[in-house]
Amino acid sequence: MTVPRLPIRTERLVLRPTTAADAARAFEIQSDWEVTRMLRMAAFPPDAEATRGWFADHQREWSAGEAYRFAVEHDGRMIGLADLDEIADGKGDLGYWYEKAAWGHGLAFEAAQAVVRFAFGEASLSTLKSGHAADNAASGRILTKLGFTPVDTVEVFSKSRGGMIRQHRYALTASR
Ligand SMILES: CC(C)(COP(=O)(O)OP(=O)(O)OC[C@H]1O[C@@H](n2cnc3c(N)ncnc32)[C@H](O)[C@@H]1OP(=O)(O)O)[C@@H](O)C(=O)NCCC(=O)NCCS
Repeated sequence: MTVPRLPIRTERLVLRPTTAADAARAFEIQSDWEVTRMLRMAAFPPDAEATRGWFADHQREWSAGEAYRFAVEHDGRMIGLADLDEIADGKGDLGYWYEKAAWGHGLAFEAAQAVVRFAFGEASLSTLKSGHAADNAASGRILTKLGFTPVDTVEVFSKSRGGMIRQHRYALTASR
């Protein structure tokens, strides 16, 4: 990876690599069922110890090129997270989640746009994938606006919901 210009600044947001100290705020945000029900791999209620352990590993993941996770700040406050993970062979997976108070202002799209630019720029990825639960139209709208195209719909297990859900999957290839 070329040396990134960090933090990333957008019109209204600052995106900086997460630190272990962000775990408490993430726990607070994921304690809201409306947020966590949309996160297939997240436990609900969240587990404080597991959240701390996950954030404590982010710096290593970043250095190893396994995942790039950004705390998204608005007016100096962390409102959520946007990340690229499952990185291998020039491919990665885009994800994001925000506190409910931040929804509806285009902030998730603004951050995701910056992360996609980072993915195809500094991180030199060639393809991104992403996906959302069938009942998460807002996330589908964000992916479509970013240029992602639908791939398929699959039945997957949602840890937070404790059952199978329909998941729409998408892909985006870097433009040459
Ligand atoms: C999904 C989520 C990231 C959206 O955040 P946000 O800041 O409200 O998103 P934005 O405002 O940037 O964009 C949302 C878009 O979806 C649209 N939208 C919102 N609710 C919608 C709905 N029920 N149906 C259709 N479109 C909807 C908005 O109008 C907007 O589109 P627009 O810019 O064309 O007007 C946020 O709700 C969230 O964090 N949810 C919980 C976690 C989550 O779902 N993560 C993604 C997992 S795939």
